[in-house]
Amino acid sequence: MHIDVLLGLQWGDEGKGKIVDVFTPHYDIIARFQGGPNAGHTLEFQGSKHVLHHIPSGIFRNDTINLIGNGVIIDPMTFKAETDALETKGVDTRKNLFISNKAHLILPSHRLLDLALERSKGNQKIGSTLKGIGPTYTDKVARHGLRTGDILLSDFQEKYKKLKERHFALLNTYGLNIEAEKIDGLSFDEYETKWMEAVEHFKSMKLIDSENFINAQLKANKKVLAEGAQGTLLDLDFGSYPYVTSSNTITAGVCSGLGIAPSKINRVYGVFKAYCTRVGSGPFPTELYDDCGQKMRDQGNEYGSTTGRPRRCGWLDMPALKYAIMINGVTDLVMTKADVFNGFEKIKVCDQYTLDNKKVDFSTFALEQNSLECFLKEFEGWKEDIANCEQYQNFPQNMIQYIDYIEKETSTTVSVISTSADRKGIIFKNKELFN
Ligand code: GDP
Ligand code: IMO
Ligand code: MG
Repeated sequence: MHIDVLLGLQWGDEGKGKIVDVFTPHYDIIARFQGGPNAGHTLEFQGSKHVLHHIPSGIFRNDTINLIGNGVIIDPMTFKAETDALETKGVDTRKNLFISNKAHLILPSHRLLDLALERSKGNQKIGSTLKGIGPTYTDKVARHGLRTGDILLSDFQEKYKKLKERHFALLNTYGLNIEAEKIDGLSFDEYETKWMEAVEHFKSMKLIDSENFINAQLKANKKVLAEGAQGTLLDLDFGSYPYVTSSNTITAGVCSGLGIAPSKINRVYGVFKAYCTRVGSGPFPTELYDDCGQKMRDQGNEYGSTTGRPRRCGWLDMPALKYAIMINGVTDLVMTKADVFNGFEKIKVCDQYTLDNKKVDFSTFALEQNSLECFLKEFEGWKEDIANCEQYQNFPQNMIQYIDYIEKETSTTVSVISTSADRKGIIFKNKELFN
């Protein structure tokens, strides 16, 4: 059997968690392949809201296996808080959650390094979630990181101490006063004690050679969905560098993050919002600084799921969307949050970029140089509440025109449309998708 992929086409928070939750009944396994606790994936059903950071969004469905692949990085402390919250909701995370023994660990000192690095950048700061992502992936690439499997080995404490000392030496060069800093409100020593307790808890999880496991499952005809974190424009290679995350958020990341051959990948679902948002720094050409942007933020409740920061809001960026479709090989588009436009008089879209008055291709490199101008195209809005629509044909005509334009421009079908945050707010335009 093949593996399908679902990932974000913008700057993260496209609604991936909700869509994975809706798609889960059609899969046997949901697998995360990159990122870590910087992710915040929100699921809403039966009047409750759940935010996941490391754990795949299939966890609420009883019969689904959830897998955290080798490409993910894990903070045992945040992970424990996440599993504790799930346990109180009656989810047994020891039953159907498997974790790669090769996923790297985020140490308390990685959190401080993240802080020191951000501070040293001044007004060039990335706007990191400060979860230790950059420093942990750096150690992985530098070949002195610690992996989840290491916690079961007799020399773990020794290895931990060695890496911590390396970090402390680095922190010294940044002039960071370790004693004076807090991590999530705790001193370093207090946090470290709790972190070690969380490591003990982590030992009871199912740590496996996940690449063997997933390939055996595929061989046994099981259906797998890979769940991306962040978004294509935050990809380490193709995003708006340096204002990116430290992993490959794109389809290619599935192969290295799970140990899957490219030939095994089948459908690629690209999730995008009907507009754009971004948290943290970096270029955002269609960003709105006016009442309209504020209206998007209010109606879309655009505040970070991980950090609570207000998200920057702006119009849909069509050249950027086409670029993301190209990089990922998207077969189906999934549009979320068009309901946020309910009551908007006009809707705009960046239709084309120009440089020195000449039409140019989208380029994240040029974007970073701030040299691109965007040409905005205008659409009529709609007054109806689309959350009440039960079929595609019931959508307001102006919304259908908006979708037609997106499909024509991208030559890709908008197969699924999300109409609210709730699991039930979903319209399958492509009725064949899971048949
Ligand atoms: P993710 O990181 O891609 O999983 O997205 P987040 O969970 O960080 O942010 C998406 C937010 O939009 C969450 O609060 C979701 O509950 C919400 N959401 C998802 N789809 C829709 C939708 O179609 N309409 C509305 N109004 N909210 C949605
Ligand atoms: P999900 O999976 C939105 C952003 C941060 C920052 C940059 C680098 O919920 O879509 P990092 O902590 O990785 O060093 O931050 O990336 N960022 C996200 N923005 N959604 C996310 O994840 C994000 N994960 C990281 O705000 O600009
Ligand atoms: Mg999110």
